[in-house]
Amino acid sequence: MKYLLKIGGNVRKIREIGRVCRKYSGKHGIVLMPGGWGFASLIRDYIGKIKISGITAQRMAVRALDMNALIIADILGCDITDSIGKISSARGMKVFAPARYLLSSFPFRVHDIDRLTSDYCAAYVAGRTGARLLYLKDVDGIFDKDPKKYADAVLYKDIGAPEISGKKTCIDETTPSLIQKSRIDCLVLNGNFPGRIDRVFSGNIPRSTKINIR
Ligand SMILES: Nc1ncnc2c1ncn2[C@@H]1O[C@H](COP(=O)(O)OP(=O)(O)OP(=O)(O)O)[C@@H](O)[C@H]1O
Ligand SMILES: [Mg+2]
Repeated sequence: MKYLLKIGGNVRKIREIGRVCRKYSGKHGIVLMPGGWGFASLIRDYIGKIKISGITAQRMAVRALDMNALIIADILGCDITDSIGKISSARGMKVFAPARYLLSSFPFRVHDIDRLTSDYCAAYVAGRTGARLLYLKDVDGIFDKDPKKYADAVLYKDIGAPEISGKKTCIDETTPSLIQKSRIDCLVLNGNFPGRIDRVFSGNIPRSTKINIR
C-alpha cells in the first residue's frame, strides 16, 4: 500500500512519526509531505504589507512546502526528493519536496493561497501517485465544530466529501472537491498521537475521520 502523510503545522511529534514510518517502510511506500506551517502566515503578512500578486504569493507558498520538507528530512535523517517518479514506489520512506513538480505541472487555474492550499497540494499529489492520504492535524479528525473552541464538539467517524466542501473545518475548504473528483482514499487524524498512524499502517482504524467519496 502507498501512503502520503501530510504533516500539518502544529504536529510536534515528527521524530516519533518518523519512527513509525520507518517501522513499516519495508511493507508500504510512505511519503511525507509538509504543510505551509509558519511560512504560509509570513507570506500572508507580505500580501498585506507589500502588494505582491496572487501568482507570486502562490509560487512562494509552494516553495515554502520545500523549505518545510527540508526541515522534516533533517529531523528524520531521511531521503528527500523532488521527483514524482521516486515517490511512487510501493516500499520505502521518503520526504517529498513538491515545488518543482507542482510548479511545472501547474494544476492551478486560480491563484489564491487561500483556495489552493497545502491540503489541496497534498490531495493533488496523492491523486497522481495513487496513494492513500493521511492528513496529520493537531486535532483528532473532523468535528461538527472547531474542537479547540467548543468542548462539546463531536468527532465524525466518517463524513462525505461533499458535506465538508466549502465549509470551515481542519481541511481547507476547496480540498474536498478534489478528493471527490480524484477519488482519493483519505483519513484525517491527530499527528500528535503517532500510535494512531501505527494502527493505520497495521490495518486497523484508529480514532480519526474517514472522508467518504461517492
Ligand atoms: N470542524 C472542525 N473540525 C476539526 N478542526 C477544526 C474544525 N474547524 C476548525 N478547526 C481547526 O482546524 C485546525 C487545523 O487546521 P490548520 O490549517 O490550522 O492546520 P494544518 O492544516 O494541520 O496546518 P498547515 O495549514 O500548516 O498545514 C485545528 O487546530 C482546529 O482548531
Ligand atoms: Mg491548514
